Amino acid sequence: MFMKILAIESSCDETACAIVDDEFKVLSNVIASQIDIHQATKGVVPEVAARAHVGQVQAVFDKALNDADLTMEDIDAVAVTKGPGLLTSLAVGTSFASSLAWIYNKPLIPVNHIHGHIFSNWLDCSEEISYPVVVLTVSGGHNELVLVDEAGSVKILGETLDDAAGEAFDKVAKMMDLGYPGGPVISKLALDGNPEAYDFPRPMRDSGDYNFSFSGLKTSVWLKVSREEYKAEDVAASFQEAACDILAFKLLKAAEEFGAAEVHLAGGVSANGRLREMITERTKLKFRYPSQITYCTDNAAMIAGAAMMVPASEWLKAGESVSAGLE
Ligand code: KG4
Ligand code: ZN
Repeated sequence: MFMKILAIESSCDETACAIVDDEFKVLSNVIASQIDIHQATKGVVPEVAARAHVGQVQAVFDKALNDADLTMEDIDAVAVTKGPGLLTSLAVGTSFASSLAWIYNKPLIPVNHIHGHIFSNWLDCSEEISYPVVVLTVSGGHNELVLVDEAGSVKILGETLDDAAGEAFDKVAKMMDLGYPGGPVISKLALDGNPEAYDFPRPMRDSGDYNFSFSGLKTSVWLKVSREEYKAEDVAASFQEAACDILAFKLLKAAEEFGAAEVHLAGGVSANGRLREMITERTKLKFRYPSQITYCTDNAAMIAGAAMMVPASEWLKAGESVSAGLE
C-alpha cells in the first residue's frame, strides 16, 4: 500500500488540489484557474484572487477525491502551500487544509511553494533520478537556482535581485498591450520574429555568481517600444533570446561547478520552448522539464510531491494549524 498525500495550493491565481502517492504517481490533479478574471486587469488583484479561492476550494477538493476514486479514509496526510505568495490567497488554502487535517485526524505538512516547483520533475517520472540535481525554477514571482542532493535537501545557489524572468515576460507583453500572462504570448509571437533584430542586454550573465537581474532588460525593452517604431514579433524574439540566454548560461555553469548528474527546469517559464531548446543544445547532461504543462505552472501535485520530501518529524499534528505566509 502506497502512502498518499492530498495537497492544497492557493498561493496566487490557481485554486488547486491533488493526490500523489509516495512513488510520485499523480492520482488526481485539479486546477481551477482564475486567468479569465485577471485578464481584465492585466494582472492579479490580491483581494479578487482570494475571493475566487474561497468560491472554488471546496469544489476543487471534492473533485480531486472523486477523480482519484478515493475518500479521506485513504489519505495519509494533508499538505498545503504555506508561502511564499499572496497572503490572503494563501490564507484560504492554509485554513481549509488545517480544517481538513483536524476534521479527518490527519497529519498536516506545510510546504514552501518554491520547493513544490523544484520537485515537479519527480512527478510521474518513470526513471530513477540521479543526484546531485541542479534545478532552475522560474515563474512570475520567483527565480531560483538550487542544488538538490540525494536526501532531498535544497540548497539555494542564487536568485533574482529584482524581477523574476516570468515577470519580465509579463511586463514586456503589457508594454506592447498583448495581454496577460505574457510568457505564452511572447513565446508564440517570437516564433515569427528575428531574435537578432534588437540587441537587448544580458544583465549579470557574466557576473560570476548565480544571482539574476531582469529589471535592466525590461527597461531596455521599454526604452525601445516607448520611443521608436518596432515590430512586436522582433521585440518578442529578441527579448526572449536575451532572457533565455541568461537563464540557460547560469543553469549550465552551476551544473558544471557542482558536478550535477541532471539539470532540471521548473516553474511557469519552463514551458518556454526556446529555453528548453537552448539548454538541449548546450549540454549533454540529462535534462528534464515537467512531463506535463500543468506541472510547470502552479498546481497542487507538485506541493504533494515536495511534501513527500519533508521528514515526518516536521509534520504538524491534526489540530495544529499552519499560518499563511510564514516560511
Ligand atoms: O509558476 P507559475 O504558474 O506562477 C507563479 O508562481 O508565478 O508561473 C507563471 C509565469 C508567468 O509569469 C508566465 O508569463 C510565465 O510563467 N510563463 C512563461 C511561459 N508560460 C508561462 N514564460 C515564458 N514562456 C512561456 N511559454
Ligand atoms: Zn509558482
